[in-house]
Amino acid sequence: MNEGPIQAPAEFYHPSTDFLSQVNIPDPDALRREATDDLEGYWARRAKELEWYAPWTTVLDSSNAPFFQWFVGGKTNIVLNALDRHVKTWKRNKLALIWEGENGDVRTFSYHALNREVCKFANVLKSMGIMKGDRVTIYMPRIPETVIAMLATAKIGAVHSVVYGGFSVESLHGRIEDSESKVIITADGGYMNGKTVELKKIVDEALQRTAAPENVVVVRHTGKDVNMEAGRDYWYHELMALPLTRNSLKCETEVMDAEDPLFILYTSGTTGLPKAILHTHGGYQVGVHATLTDVFDLKEEDRWWCTADPGWITGHSYIVYGPLLAGATSFMYEGAPTFPYPDRWWAMIEKYGISILYTTPTAIRGLMRFGEAWPNRHDLSSLRLLGSVGEPINPEAWKWFHKNIGKNKCPIMDTWWQTETGMFMIAPLPAMSLKPGSGSKPYPGVIADVVDEEGVPVKTGEEGFLVLKTPWPAMMRTIYKDPERYVKSYWSKYPGMYLAGDSARRDKDGYYWIIGRVDDVIKVSGYRLGTAELESAFISHPSVAEAAVIGLPHEIKGIAIHAYVILKNGYTPGEALVEELKHHIGHEMGPIAKPEKIEFVPSLPKTRSGKIMRRVLKARAQGMHEGDLSTLED
Ligand code: WT7
Repeated sequence: MNEGPIQAPAEFYHPSTDFLSQVNIPDPDALRREATDDLEGYWARRAKELEWYAPWTTVLDSSNAPFFQWFVGGKTNIVLNALDRHVKTWKRNKLALIWEGENGDVRTFSYHALNREVCKFANVLKSMGIMKGDRVTIYMPRIPETVIAMLATAKIGAVHSVVYGGFSVESLHGRIEDSESKVIITADGGYMNGKTVELKKIVDEALQRTAAPENVVVVRHTGKDVNMEAGRDYWYHELMALPLTRNSLKCETEVMDAEDPLFILYTSGTTGLPKAILHTHGGYQVGVHATLTDVFDLKEEDRWWCTADPGWITGHSYIVYGPLLAGATSFMYEGAPTFPYPDRWWAMIEKYGISILYTTPTAIRGLMRFGEAWPNRHDLSSLRLLGSVGEPINPEAWKWFHKNIGKNKCPIMDTWWQTETGMFMIAPLPAMSLKPGSGSKPYPGVIADVVDEEGVPVKTGEEGFLVLKTPWPAMMRTIYKDPERYVKSYWSKYPGMYLAGDSARRDKDGYYWIIGRVDDVIKVSGYRLGTAELESAFISHPSVAEAAVIGLPHEIKGIAIHAYVILKNGYTPGEALVEELKHHIGHEMGPIAKPEKIEFVPSLPKTRSGKIMRRVLKARAQGMHEGDLSTLED
């Protein structure tokens, strides 16, 4: 529990008076008091910033906790607020989305145009028999059709399951099968780092391992030849060109209960294979809208850029839904930050006049490596606010970002949250003073704490388990198809407290410092991977009898994967097999899962009940004391 950033001396960075004079929330403490004094009243006020077909009768129903319900009785649809309400106002002419492909292609969508494409595609999905509650898997590159597909699915009341385009055959197969999706939406490929990722090929291979869904819709993006199976696979552009209904440009938005499912998103957990986190229409839209407009101080004239991928929660909440709910202009980029040169991001900030940049510590550390000359070639004066998410940001990277990208004038919002929380939980409000490496304080209405093994709050400055003590509207509702696992994973260690799975400290000013995961989750470059999924990918190779993976500190990635492998008889350890195994993991799970290092070992440290003691492997690898070994079997 003791890796992670070294605590910086508590030096505050204060926002400038210029910045303070325009900020949406000038008095963060007042907002915090409002929410603490009357949690339901606070969230009801925020919910009224959005439209509802019919109002709720109960703001928060805790009678069946931890299966909390929000805005019970309310009728809505997130698309009502993300699109429908905007196209009735002047916003129909505002840009919703500016997109740049890695090859330099540019596409823009006004709210009117985005709504038109969403309506058309919603009609396509309906024509394929997709109905309210059906699951749709979306496996795409970072292109506008990803956004269109998500919104079209939500519009008709179906449930999207977006699988990150960097995942590969086995990860995709497992997620298609578990979600029982009727349709898969994919593309012929995507561009990344000057190469193409052949997504359709991966879909074809994944579908050989599973009962095939009824249809596959394929967006033509790279133009490369792909296999199209007659009767199953259809081109997106051909479907979109068909007059499927007499009025294919119009599609009524399905009226949903506030608590109806909006999406599932697979993520890795403490043990076992990925679990599908379920979010709903009503509370999610309220939480995401409030947090984005407050924490990132969104204004009409902003150009917002969240560099994440729509395939992760950050993309769901803050590329797709949040900015559209706020009626903002959002920029999306397909490719790698360093293609063709390490100034690609800085060039695009200048070209599009981006005003808010929300990115990851790994990206910052990676770009920092190329030096200041690259950002200094560009005019970054349009930037007014920066953000960081996904993993702890080390003070050195924070300061580099602040000085060289923010030119000492842009506050950095370090936002701690999770797939499960749906929205920011610990994050500054921009009028607050900042400490590099700390996400500062919980968002209004959120009560966090740091507790010991028994659930007792630890002393100021001491490390412990991060917990949340109040429900919030964008919280996950359950694990799809596995409510028991929902209770067990999050709500059973301490009664009445949500267990986040991170360790943290709180300092004398009440600022939180996230240290890292305390479970079997590994955060590689901020991407969340599970040891169980990785180990089962290893075991699917014919040479592997057993495998254990751990995360160890890495200069750029934050944490990198190290694997210990026991070979089956007849296989020879060596460089060739290491390369083959790395390739195998890349093929099964995706390039992000490729281990940094693979070591062949004769045995693994296990408890008497057969559980691998990763903590022992970790301590040994770092040359540290192995701790209490009394439960070790071998
Ligand atoms: C885990 C959740 C939330 C969007 C992206 C990741 C780590 C997230 C921070 C941060 C330190 C962070 C935690 C958390 N994490 N943000 N600002 N500082 N750690 O979502 O894949 O569900 O991962 O990411 O370990 O539990 P996710």
